[in-house]
Amino acid sequence: MTGPLKVALLGCGTVGSAVLRVLQDQAGDLGARIGRPVEVAGVAVRRPAHHPDVPAHLLTTDAHALVTRDDVDLVVEVIGGIEPARSLMLAAFEAGKSVVSANKALLAEDGVALHAAAAKAGVDLYYEAAVAGAIPILRPLRESLVGDQLSRVVGIVNGTTNYILSRMAETGAGFGEALAEATELGYAEADPTADVDGFDAAAKAAILASLAFHTPVSAVDVYREGISTVTATDVARAAEIGCTVKLLAICERVAGEDGDSVAVRVHPAMIPTSHPLASVGGAFNAVFVEAAAAGQLMFYGQGAGGEPTASAVLGDLVAVARSRVTGAPGPGVTGYANLALRPMAETPTRYHVSLDVADKPGVLAAVAQEFARHEVSISTVRQTGRGDAATLVIVTHSAPDAALSATIAALREMPAVRGVTSVLRVEGLS
Ligand code: HSE
Repeated sequence: MTGPLKVALLGCGTVGSAVLRVLQDQAGDLGARIGRPVEVAGVAVRRPAHHPDVPAHLLTTDAHALVTRDDVDLVVEVIGGIEPARSLMLAAFEAGKSVVSANKALLAEDGVALHAAAAKAGVDLYYEAAVAGAIPILRPLRESLVGDQLSRVVGIVNGTTNYILSRMAETGAGFGEALAEATELGYAEADPTADVDGFDAAAKAAILASLAFHTPVSAVDVYREGISTVTATDVARAAEIGCTVKLLAICERVAGEDGDSVAVRVHPAMIPTSHPLASVGGAFNAVFVEAAAAGQLMFYGQGAGGEPTASAVLGDLVAVARSRVTGAPGPGVTGYANLALRPMAETPTRYHVSLDVADKPGVLAAVAQEFARHEVSISTVRQTGRGDAATLVIVTHSAPDAALSATIAALREMPAVRGVTSVLRVEGLS
Protein backbone atom coordinates (compact mmCIF):
# COMPACT_ATOMS: atom_id res chain seq x y z
CA MET A 1 0.00 0.00 0.00
CA THR A 2 2.52 2.59 -1.09
CA GLY A 3 0.72 4.11 -4.07
CA PRO A 4 -0.94 7.49 -3.77
CA LEU A 5 -4.16 7.94 -1.85
CA LYS A 6 -6.76 9.21 -4.26
CA VAL A 7 -9.27 11.88 -3.35
CA ALA A 8 -12.64 12.51 -4.99
CA LEU A 9 -13.68 16.13 -4.67
CA LEU A 10 -17.43 16.71 -4.85
CA GLY A 11 -18.12 20.35 -5.65
CA CYS A 12 -15.73 23.04 -6.80
CA GLY A 13 -17.14 26.35 -5.62
CA THR A 14 -15.32 28.80 -3.36
CA VAL A 15 -14.28 26.16 -0.83
CA GLY A 16 -13.77 23.30 -3.28
CA SER A 17 -11.49 25.31 -5.55
CA ALA A 18 -9.40 26.40 -2.54
CA VAL A 19 -9.15 22.75 -1.41
CA LEU A 20 -8.12 21.68 -4.92
CA ARG A 21 -5.47 24.40 -5.14
CA VAL A 22 -3.85 23.40 -1.82
CA LEU A 23 -4.08 19.69 -2.65
CA GLN A 24 -2.19 20.33 -5.86
CA ASP A 25 0.27 23.00 -4.63
CA GLN A 26 1.18 21.29 -1.36
CA ALA A 27 0.89 17.67 -2.37
CA GLY A 28 4.46 16.98 -1.22
CA ASP A 29 3.98 18.30 2.32
CA LEU A 30 0.55 16.71 2.67
CA GLY A 31 1.89 13.35 1.50
CA ALA A 32 4.75 13.55 4.00
CA ARG A 33 2.35 14.35 6.83
CA ILE A 34 0.03 11.51 5.84
CA GLY A 35 2.77 8.98 5.19
CA ARG A 36 1.65 8.32 1.62
CA PRO A 37 1.37 10.53 -1.44
CA VAL A 38 -2.04 12.06 -2.03
CA GLU A 39 -3.56 13.04 -5.35
CA VAL A 40 -6.87 14.17 -6.80
CA ALA A 41 -8.75 11.41 -8.60
CA GLY A 42 -11.55 13.60 -9.94
CA VAL A 43 -13.69 16.64 -9.38
CA ALA A 44 -17.47 16.32 -9.69
CA VAL A 45 -19.28 19.46 -10.78
CA ARG A 46 -22.59 20.27 -12.42
CA ARG A 47 -21.20 22.44 -15.22
CA PRO A 48 -17.63 21.54 -16.28
CA ALA A 49 -17.48 24.57 -18.60
CA HIS A 50 -17.64 26.82 -15.53
CA HIS A 51 -14.32 25.42 -14.25
CA PRO A 52 -11.65 26.29 -16.84
CA ASP A 53 -8.93 26.25 -14.13
CA VAL A 54 -9.50 22.58 -13.30
CA PRO A 55 -7.61 20.11 -15.56
CA ALA A 56 -10.27 18.78 -17.94
CA HIS A 57 -9.34 15.12 -17.33
CA LEU A 58 -10.33 15.50 -13.65
CA LEU A 59 -13.78 16.95 -14.27
CA THR A 60 -16.90 14.81 -14.29
CA THR A 61 -20.61 15.38 -13.91
CA ASP A 62 -21.16 11.87 -12.55
CA ALA A 63 -20.47 12.28 -8.84
CA HIS A 64 -21.83 8.85 -7.93
CA ALA A 65 -19.54 7.07 -10.38
CA LEU A 66 -16.57 9.06 -9.04
CA VAL A 67 -17.34 8.26 -5.40
CA THR A 68 -17.69 4.54 -6.06
CA ARG A 69 -14.68 4.23 -8.37
CA ASP A 70 -12.32 1.48 -7.19
CA ASP A 71 -9.24 3.69 -7.22
CA VAL A 72 -10.82 6.40 -5.03
CA ASP A 73 -9.82 6.18 -1.36
CA LEU A 74 -11.30 9.31 0.22
CA VAL A 75 -14.18 11.65 -0.54
CA VAL A 76 -14.40 15.39 0.12
CA GLU A 77 -17.96 16.69 -0.05
CA VAL A 78 -18.27 20.45 -0.47
CA ILE A 79 -21.50 20.55 -2.47
CA GLY A 80 -23.65 21.60 0.50
CA GLY A 81 -27.40 21.05 0.95
CA ILE A 82 -29.17 17.79 1.67
CA GLU A 83 -29.37 15.99 -1.67
CA PRO A 84 -27.45 14.71 -3.55
CA ALA A 85 -24.86 15.17 -0.77
CA ARG A 86 -26.51 12.62 1.55
CA SER A 87 -26.84 9.89 -1.09
CA LEU A 88 -23.28 10.43 -2.23
CA MET A 89 -21.95 10.22 1.33
CA LEU A 90 -23.89 7.02 1.98
CA ALA A 91 -22.60 5.56 -1.30
CA ALA A 92 -19.05 6.47 -0.24
CA PHE A 93 -19.44 4.73 3.12
CA GLU A 94 -20.93 1.67 1.50
CA ALA A 95 -17.93 1.55 -0.81
CA GLY A 96 -15.60 1.72 2.23
CA LYS A 97 -14.47 5.31 1.78
CA SER A 98 -14.05 7.93 4.49
CA VAL A 99 -15.72 11.28 3.98
CA VAL A 100 -14.71 14.82 4.83
CA SER A 101 -17.58 17.28 4.60
CA ALA A 102 -18.28 20.97 5.14
CA ASN A 103 -22.02 20.38 5.12
CA LYS A 104 -23.63 21.83 8.26
CA ALA A 105 -27.20 21.49 6.99
CA LEU A 106 -26.82 17.77 6.31
CA LEU A 107 -24.91 16.98 9.51
CA ALA A 108 -27.42 18.96 11.57
CA GLU A 109 -30.34 17.15 9.94
CA ASP A 110 -29.03 13.62 9.67
CA GLY A 111 -25.84 13.34 11.70
CA VAL A 112 -26.95 10.28 13.64
CA ALA A 113 -27.70 8.19 10.54
CA LEU A 114 -24.54 9.33 8.78
CA HIS A 115 -22.32 8.51 11.75
CA ALA A 116 -24.03 5.12 12.03
CA ALA A 117 -23.38 4.43 8.36
CA ALA A 118 -19.72 5.46 8.68
CA ALA A 119 -19.27 3.32 11.81
CA LYS A 120 -20.91 0.32 10.14
CA ALA A 121 -18.50 0.65 7.23
CA GLY A 122 -15.52 1.14 9.56
CA VAL A 123 -14.61 4.49 7.99
CA ASP A 124 -14.32 8.11 9.14
CA LEU A 125 -16.74 11.03 8.89
CA TYR A 126 -15.16 14.39 9.72
CA TYR A 127 -16.72 17.83 9.20
CA GLU A 128 -14.64 20.46 10.99
CA ALA A 129 -15.45 23.02 8.26
CA ALA A 130 -19.19 22.75 8.92
CA VAL A 131 -18.98 24.93 12.04
CA ALA A 132 -17.07 28.19 12.33
CA GLY A 133 -14.93 27.83 9.17
CA ALA A 134 -11.24 27.69 9.97
CA ILE A 135 -11.68 27.47 13.73
CA PRO A 136 -10.76 24.06 15.12
CA ILE A 137 -13.70 23.38 17.43
CA LEU A 138 -15.29 20.06 16.45
CA ARG A 139 -12.13 17.98 16.80
CA PRO A 140 -11.38 19.62 20.19
CA LEU A 141 -14.91 18.64 21.29
CA ARG A 142 -14.64 15.13 19.78
CA GLU A 143 -11.11 14.40 20.92
CA SER A 144 -9.20 16.87 23.11
CA LEU A 145 -12.06 17.54 25.55
CA VAL A 146 -13.68 14.11 25.42
CA GLY A 147 -12.30 13.28 28.88
CA ASP A 148 -13.90 16.32 30.46
CA GLN A 149 -17.49 17.16 31.44
CA LEU A 150 -18.77 20.10 29.40
CA SER A 151 -21.40 22.42 30.83
CA ARG A 152 -21.75 25.12 28.15
CA VAL A 153 -20.70 25.88 24.62
CA VAL A 154 -21.56 29.42 23.52
CA GLY A 155 -20.67 30.55 20.04
CA ILE A 156 -20.74 33.45 17.68
CA VAL A 157 -20.96 31.15 14.69
CA ASN A 158 -22.44 33.40 12.02
CA GLY A 159 -20.21 36.08 10.56
CA THR A 160 -22.93 37.90 8.63
CA THR A 161 -25.02 38.64 11.71
CA ASN A 162 -21.95 39.46 13.77
CA TYR A 163 -20.90 41.98 11.14
CA ILE A 164 -24.37 43.57 11.15
CA LEU A 165 -24.59 43.76 14.95
CA SER A 166 -21.02 45.11 15.18
CA ARG A 167 -21.90 47.90 12.72
CA MET A 168 -25.10 48.70 14.62
CA ALA A 169 -23.02 49.10 17.80
CA GLU A 170 -20.33 51.16 16.07
CA THR A 171 -22.57 53.51 14.11
CA GLY A 172 -25.94 53.55 15.90
CA ALA A 173 -27.55 52.34 12.67
CA GLY A 174 -30.77 50.32 12.65
CA PHE A 175 -30.90 46.73 11.43
CA GLY A 176 -32.06 47.62 7.89
CA GLU A 177 -29.28 50.12 7.30
CA ALA A 178 -26.58 47.78 8.66
CA LEU A 179 -27.92 44.89 6.55
CA ALA A 180 -27.84 47.06 3.43
CA GLU A 181 -24.21 47.93 4.15
CA ALA A 182 -23.35 44.26 4.76
CA THR A 183 -24.98 43.32 1.43
CA GLU A 184 -23.15 46.09 -0.40
CA LEU A 185 -19.79 44.94 0.97
CA GLY A 186 -20.46 41.26 0.28
CA TYR A 187 -20.76 40.19 3.93
CA ALA A 188 -24.45 39.31 3.45
CA GLU A 189 -25.90 37.20 0.65
CA ALA A 190 -28.52 38.59 -1.73
CA ASP A 191 -31.05 36.47 0.20
CA PRO A 192 -29.80 36.83 3.78
CA THR A 193 -32.59 34.76 5.38
CA ALA A 194 -30.47 31.76 6.44
CA ASP A 195 -28.02 34.01 8.24
CA VAL A 196 -30.26 36.80 9.55
CA ASP A 197 -33.04 34.52 10.80
CA GLY A 198 -30.60 32.25 12.60
CA PHE A 199 -31.03 29.07 10.52
CA ASP A 200 -27.30 28.85 9.76
CA ALA A 201 -26.39 29.33 13.43
CA ALA A 202 -29.06 26.81 14.54
CA ALA A 203 -27.56 24.08 12.33
CA LYS A 204 -24.13 24.79 13.79
CA ALA A 205 -25.55 24.84 17.34
CA ALA A 206 -27.07 21.39 16.77
CA ILE A 207 -23.70 20.01 15.70
CA LEU A 208 -21.88 21.64 18.63
CA ALA A 209 -24.42 20.38 21.17
CA SER A 210 -24.40 16.82 19.76
CA LEU A 211 -20.64 16.58 20.17
CA ALA A 212 -20.40 18.45 23.48
CA PHE A 213 -23.06 16.42 25.26
CA HIS A 214 -22.91 13.05 23.45
CA THR A 215 -26.58 13.50 22.67
CA PRO A 216 -28.25 13.56 19.26
CA VAL A 217 -29.48 17.09 18.51
CA SER A 218 -30.95 18.14 15.17
CA ALA A 219 -31.46 21.63 13.79
CA VAL A 220 -35.21 21.32 14.40
CA ASP A 221 -34.51 20.82 18.13
CA VAL A 222 -32.85 24.22 18.36
CA TYR A 223 -34.89 27.20 19.56
CA ARG A 224 -34.21 29.99 17.07
CA GLU A 225 -34.66 33.74 16.86
CA GLY A 226 -32.82 35.91 14.35
CA ILE A 227 -31.59 39.48 14.55
CA SER A 228 -34.07 41.32 12.31
CA THR A 229 -36.04 42.51 15.37
CA VAL A 230 -32.96 43.93 17.12
CA THR A 231 -33.33 47.71 17.17
CA ALA A 232 -30.92 50.60 17.57
CA THR A 233 -32.61 51.15 20.96
CA ASP A 234 -31.73 47.58 22.04
CA VAL A 235 -28.10 48.19 21.11
CA ALA A 236 -28.04 51.57 22.90
CA ARG A 237 -29.66 50.11 26.03
CA ALA A 238 -27.06 47.34 26.02
CA ALA A 239 -24.26 49.92 25.93
CA GLU A 240 -25.83 51.78 28.88
CA ILE A 241 -25.38 48.71 31.09
CA GLY A 242 -21.90 47.89 29.79
CA CYS A 243 -23.10 45.23 27.35
CA THR A 244 -23.05 44.53 23.65
CA VAL A 245 -25.58 42.60 21.53
CA LYS A 246 -24.51 39.35 19.84
CA LEU A 247 -26.33 36.52 18.08
CA LEU A 248 -25.39 33.60 20.31
CA ALA A 249 -25.63 29.86 19.75
CA ILE A 250 -25.99 28.56 23.29
CA CYS A 251 -25.67 24.85 24.08
CA GLU A 252 -25.92 23.98 27.75
CA ARG A 253 -26.38 21.11 30.10
CA VAL A 254 -29.10 22.03 32.58
CA ALA A 255 -29.55 20.23 35.89
CA GLY A 256 -33.13 19.40 36.81
CA GLU A 257 -35.14 17.34 39.26
CA ASP A 258 -35.52 14.60 36.64
CA GLY A 259 -31.82 14.59 35.81
CA ASP A 260 -29.74 16.65 33.41
CA SER A 261 -31.05 17.83 30.06
CA VAL A 262 -29.63 19.72 27.10
CA ALA A 263 -30.93 23.12 26.03
CA VAL A 264 -29.91 24.49 22.65
CA ARG A 265 -30.92 27.93 21.46
CA VAL A 266 -29.96 30.66 19.04
CA HIS A 267 -31.06 34.22 19.75
CA PRO A 268 -29.69 37.72 20.12
CA ALA A 269 -28.54 38.52 23.64
CA MET A 270 -26.77 41.22 25.59
CA ILE A 271 -23.40 40.15 26.97
CA PRO A 272 -21.07 42.22 29.17
CA THR A 273 -18.27 43.95 27.24
CA SER A 274 -15.87 42.17 29.62
CA HIS A 275 -16.95 38.76 28.28
CA PRO A 276 -14.40 37.29 25.82
CA LEU A 277 -17.12 36.91 23.17
CA ALA A 278 -17.91 40.64 23.31
CA SER A 279 -14.59 41.47 21.64
CA VAL A 280 -15.40 39.30 18.60
CA GLY A 281 -16.11 41.99 16.01
CA GLY A 282 -16.95 42.15 12.31
CA ALA A 283 -17.43 38.86 10.51
CA PHE A 284 -15.24 36.84 12.90
CA ASN A 285 -16.51 33.77 14.77
CA ALA A 286 -15.63 32.44 18.21
CA VAL A 287 -16.72 29.59 20.43
CA PHE A 288 -16.49 29.78 24.22
CA VAL A 289 -16.44 26.46 26.06
CA GLU A 290 -16.93 25.82 29.77
CA ALA A 291 -15.79 22.46 31.11
CA ALA A 292 -15.57 21.01 34.61
CA ALA A 293 -11.83 20.41 34.64
CA ALA A 294 -10.52 22.57 31.79
CA GLY A 295 -12.46 25.64 32.92
CA GLN A 296 -13.08 28.26 30.26
CA LEU A 297 -11.66 28.03 26.74
CA MET A 298 -12.11 30.32 23.75
CA PHE A 299 -11.62 29.44 20.09
CA TYR A 300 -11.49 32.41 17.71
CA GLY A 301 -10.93 32.99 14.00
CA GLN A 302 -12.38 33.27 10.53
CA GLY A 303 -15.73 31.54 10.21
CA ALA A 304 -16.15 31.64 6.44
CA GLY A 305 -14.36 32.15 3.15
CA GLY A 306 -12.67 29.77 0.72
CA GLU A 307 -9.14 29.58 2.14
CA PRO A 308 -10.07 29.52 5.86
CA THR A 309 -12.73 26.84 5.28
CA ALA A 310 -10.32 24.87 3.08
CA SER A 311 -7.86 24.84 5.99
CA ALA A 312 -10.42 22.95 8.09
CA VAL A 313 -11.27 20.58 5.21
CA LEU A 314 -7.60 19.77 4.60
CA GLY A 315 -6.94 19.19 8.30
CA ASP A 316 -9.72 16.62 8.26
CA LEU A 317 -8.43 15.16 5.02
CA VAL A 318 -4.99 14.55 6.53
CA ALA A 319 -6.65 12.97 9.58
CA VAL A 320 -8.82 10.56 7.60
CA ALA A 321 -5.95 9.79 5.21
CA ARG A 322 -3.76 8.87 8.18
CA SER A 323 -6.51 6.53 9.38
CA ARG A 324 -6.55 4.97 5.96
CA VAL A 325 -2.79 4.46 6.09
CA THR A 326 -2.88 2.89 9.55
CA GLY A 327 -5.97 0.86 8.68
CA ALA A 328 -7.88 1.99 11.79
CA PRO A 329 -10.62 4.62 11.71
CA GLY A 330 -10.29 7.65 13.98
CA PRO A 331 -12.48 8.21 17.03
CA GLY A 332 -16.17 8.09 16.16
CA VAL A 333 -19.04 10.05 17.62
CA THR A 334 -21.47 8.61 20.08
CA GLY A 335 -24.84 9.74 21.33
CA TYR A 336 -24.56 7.42 24.33
CA ALA A 337 -25.65 10.04 26.91
CA ASN A 338 -28.89 10.63 25.00
CA LEU A 339 -29.93 13.40 27.39
CA ALA A 340 -33.44 14.81 27.17
CA LEU A 341 -33.79 18.01 25.19
CA ARG A 342 -35.14 20.85 27.28
CA PRO A 343 -37.84 23.01 25.65
CA MET A 344 -37.09 26.73 25.46
CA ALA A 345 -40.10 27.50 27.69
CA GLU A 346 -38.41 25.62 30.54
CA THR A 347 -34.89 26.87 29.86
CA PRO A 348 -33.60 29.35 32.43
CA THR A 349 -32.80 32.75 30.91
CA ARG A 350 -32.49 36.36 32.06
CA TYR A 351 -34.17 39.35 30.46
CA HIS A 352 -33.30 43.02 30.11
CA VAL A 353 -36.52 45.03 29.73
CA SER A 354 -36.93 48.72 29.04
CA LEU A 355 -40.36 50.31 29.68
CA ASP A 356 -41.79 53.76 29.12
CA VAL A 357 -44.14 54.37 32.05
CA ALA A 358 -46.16 57.11 33.69
CA ASP A 359 -44.00 58.69 36.44
CA LYS A 360 -46.43 58.59 39.34
CA PRO A 361 -46.77 56.82 42.70
CA GLY A 362 -47.46 53.11 42.55
CA VAL A 363 -46.28 52.47 38.98
CA LEU A 364 -42.98 50.86 39.95
CA ALA A 365 -44.81 48.76 42.55
CA ALA A 366 -47.37 47.62 39.97
CA VAL A 367 -44.67 46.74 37.46
CA ALA A 368 -42.72 44.84 40.14
CA GLN A 369 -45.93 43.05 41.10
CA GLU A 370 -46.29 41.72 37.54
CA PHE A 371 -42.79 40.19 37.73
CA ALA A 372 -43.62 38.71 41.16
CA ARG A 373 -46.91 37.27 39.87
CA HIS A 374 -44.94 35.27 37.29
CA GLU A 375 -42.33 34.28 39.88
CA VAL A 376 -39.64 36.28 38.15
CA SER A 377 -37.12 37.84 40.49
CA ILE A 378 -35.74 41.30 39.64
CA SER A 379 -31.98 41.82 39.82
CA THR A 380 -31.71 45.56 39.11
CA VAL A 381 -34.06 48.47 38.36
CA ARG A 382 -32.97 51.83 37.00
CA GLN A 383 -35.31 54.76 36.43
CA THR A 384 -34.70 57.87 34.39
CA GLY A 385 -37.40 60.57 34.39
CA ARG A 386 -38.74 62.66 31.54
CA GLY A 387 -41.53 65.08 32.67
CA ASP A 388 -44.52 62.99 33.74
CA ALA A 389 -42.99 60.01 31.99
CA ALA A 390 -40.14 57.76 33.03
CA THR A 391 -38.10 54.94 31.60
CA LEU A 392 -37.68 51.86 33.73
CA VAL A 393 -34.83 49.52 32.87
CA ILE A 394 -35.14 46.16 34.58
CA VAL A 395 -32.74 43.23 34.56
CA THR A 396 -34.16 40.01 35.94
CA HIS A 397 -32.57 37.07 37.65
CA SER A 398 -32.76 33.75 35.88
CA ALA A 399 -36.26 32.26 35.38
CA PRO A 400 -37.92 29.85 32.95
CA ASP A 401 -38.12 31.59 29.59
CA ALA A 402 -41.91 31.09 29.44
CA ALA A 403 -42.34 32.99 32.73
CA LEU A 404 -40.27 35.85 31.39
CA SER A 405 -42.15 36.10 28.10
CA ALA A 406 -45.49 35.89 29.94
CA THR A 407 -44.34 38.76 32.15
CA ILE A 408 -43.53 40.88 29.09
CA ALA A 409 -46.95 40.10 27.57
CA ALA A 410 -48.63 41.19 30.82
CA LEU A 411 -46.56 44.39 31.03
CA ARG A 412 -47.67 45.33 27.51
CA GLU A 413 -51.30 45.25 28.75
CA MET A 414 -50.74 47.49 31.79
CA PRO A 415 -52.34 50.96 31.45
CA ALA A 416 -49.36 52.56 33.25
CA VAL A 417 -46.93 51.07 30.72
CA ARG A 418 -46.89 53.38 27.69
CA GLY A 419 -44.54 51.13 25.78
CA VAL A 420 -42.17 48.19 26.10
CA THR A 421 -39.29 49.73 24.18
CA SER A 422 -36.69 46.99 24.42
CA VAL A 423 -36.64 43.32 25.41
CA LEU A 424 -33.54 41.20 25.07
CA ARG A 425 -32.15 38.21 26.89
CA VAL A 426 -28.96 38.73 28.86
CA GLU A 427 -26.12 36.22 29.13
CA GLY A 428 -22.98 36.24 31.23
CA LEU A 429 -23.95 38.94 33.75
CA SER A 430 -22.97 38.14 37.33
N1 HSE B 1 -23.01 32.35 6.07
C1 HSE B 1 -22.15 32.00 7.16
C2 HSE B 1 -21.78 33.22 7.95
C3 HSE B 1 -20.90 31.31 6.73
O1 HSE B 1 -22.24 34.33 7.68
O2 HSE B 1 -21.02 33.07 8.88
C4 HSE B 1 -21.12 29.91 6.31
O3 HSE B 1 -21.64 29.13 7.33
